[in-house]
Amino acid sequence: MQILTTIAEMRQARLELRLRRRTLGLVPTMGALHAGHLSLVATARAGCDAVAVSIFVNPTQFGPNEDFARYPRTFDADCALLEEAGVDFVFAPSTAEMYPPGASTYVAVEGVSDRLDGASRPGHFRGVTTVVSKLFNIVAPEWVYFGQKDAAQVAVLRRMVRDLNFDVEVVVCPIVRDDDGLAMSSRNRYLTPEERRQALVLRRTLCRIEEEAAAGITSSAVLIDAGRAVLVEEPKVRVDYFAIVDPETLVDLENVNAGNTLVAVAAFVGNTRLIDNVLI
Ligand code: PAF
Repeated sequence: MQILTTIAEMRQARLELRLRRRTLGLVPTMGALHAGHLSLVATARAGCDAVAVSIFVNPTQFGPNEDFARYPRTFDADCALLEEAGVDFVFAPSTAEMYPPGASTYVAVEGVSDRLDGASRPGHFRGVTTVVSKLFNIVAPEWVYFGQKDAAQVAVLRRMVRDLNFDVEVVVCPIVRDDDGLAMSSRNRYLTPEERRQALVLRRTLCRIEEEAAAGITSSAVLIDAGRAVLVEEPKVRVDYFAIVDPETLVDLENVNAGNTLVAVAAFVGNTRLIDNVLI
């Protein structure tokens, strides 16, 4: 496995692959890797000749009062996991490499970037779409892999790829959960044991909605009420959003669209903001 820290090195590696007619899949990450990331890597490994994983804690997607400074940085452990997973390249640029002094160009997907997480975290998706565009230009993968846990991010990035004609196929992999049902997240490591117990209410809420929808309830308002009845079981969990939306546009749905409906929740457990969702 090669660890590349400059754009020039990554481009050279890409060129060499191309000369050997080998395809490349990219898994963009901010490090602090867990089984969710490794499932993306495994899917990429199965579908591409070579796999690159980027590790870059992207400052432009954090708000001024968010956790950029304390975001977990576990580079050596991440590289050990990636080596074992058969990754070919780790692209781990510095902030100065990605954003040289004076960098002032951003990519923004209007509308969809202002919904769900975008509504709670203004500017977040502009940072995500900017850095992912840069990664596409630098790494030039045929396929890129994202996790369904970040459902709003998936909607924004799919729109960006379509609107800007990026020559890359977006592959979305299912949410990976711990044994207790909590969706895997790099931020889970912030949780105390008691907060972790409280956080399980998110999964229970989504399961209740799935059950009610399977029983034939289609009204979003009725489903949201059923979900809220579960959420109140943990009064210390502060809901940020809880919505039933179209998975592409993230616009609220009055009624569930069978097979094409996203139920998404975000909540603070202690100081940690967690997200989870289900497609019904
Ligand atoms: O999902 C993430 O970890 C980040 O938002 C991404 C896609 C790596 C961009 O920094």
